[in-house]
Amino acid sequence: MRKVAPELDVRVWPDRMGDISEIEYCAAWLPPPGVVKSLPKLKVIMSLGAGVDAILKDPTLPENVPIVRVNDPDLTGRMTEYIVLHVLMHHRQQRRLDENQKNRVWDSFPTHAARALSVGIMGMGVMGRDSAEKLRDLGFRVAGWSRTRKDVPGVQSFAGESEFDAFLGRTDVLVSLLPATPDTDGIINRGNISKLSRNGPFGAPIVINAGRGRQQVAEDILAALDSGELHAATLDVFVQEPLPPDSRLWTHPKVTLTPHCAADSDPETICAYVASNIEKHRRGEPLQNLVDRARGY
Ligand code: NAP
Ligand code: GLV
Repeated sequence: MRKVAPELDVRVWPDRMGDISEIEYCAAWLPPPGVVKSLPKLKVIMSLGAGVDAILKDPTLPENVPIVRVNDPDLTGRMTEYIVLHVLMHHRQQRRLDENQKNRVWDSFPTHAARALSVGIMGMGVMGRDSAEKLRDLGFRVAGWSRTRKDVPGVQSFAGESEFDAFLGRTDVLVSLLPATPDTDGIINRGNISKLSRNGPFGAPIVINAGRGRQQVAEDILAALDSGELHAATLDVFVQEPLPPDSRLWTHPKVTLTPHCAADSDPETICAYVASNIEKHRRGEPLQNLVDRARGY
């Protein structure tokens, strides 16, 4: 913050807070419960990431202080890279090729075109839309599912509970870019996995979760992988992070696992974003990317 906004008086929790009654803005990722509430003159809470579940879970969070989240092309671009990478990795069977190379096996198995695969993205917000557009441009058949209907050219839109099963039924690769809310908890479960398409080139669907760990029921995913009901899974987020060493997800041959790095908040970019929001707020401009606490995102 000192580099990108040297004019700001920056305090750091817990050791360099100074007089807390002077603090007007708080930038936070995993604030310990009670810290935000202890700032009597706080005007805005600024999340350092796109998801705000870690901030909202503080039961003492002051009710009347607005929360702003990150919506920045740097963060979105990183997520799109991750989603495109993992859809392509499964589509082009890269893990099988890696294994073959390791064993010096020349196995030129048949491949298929992108149009053979239906990708379904749960969560068509800032991240979901960008991933959908890039996957569409590569030739995949892309649909999105969100609370409200979206109009994205070349991307089929499904909305709400009533269209969820139809969305699952046409999806070979299920991507989650949902926020963590009570409604999305455990959404990647055995029941919903069983509703996914089995008409794709692999005969069983693939799951990619870069939303939040609470959305997946790990035991259901493992059981579905073991039974062949799921072809493969890429998981970036987990209920407990770091993922405990004894989790079976670490070693399952059909799981590709990454340590919540799908879209990292770049310190300099996000500090510039926070500083510019502070400047705009001080000029009296309305806050952008406000979190709706009732919806939870
Ligand atoms: P966003 O713009 O708020 O989009 C959220 C989307 O989810 C919206 O389209 C929303 O529908 C949809 N949604 C929410 N609840 C739903 C429900 N119950 N049923 C159907 N759709 C629902 O958020 P974003 O910026 O795209 O970020 C999405 C999430 O990605 C974050 O919350 C965070 O958890 C995750 N994330 C992960 C990483 C990582 O490194 N793994 C990095 C950044 C973000 P409406 O549009 O109709 O409201
Ligand atoms: C990261 O997980 C984010 O929500 O930005």
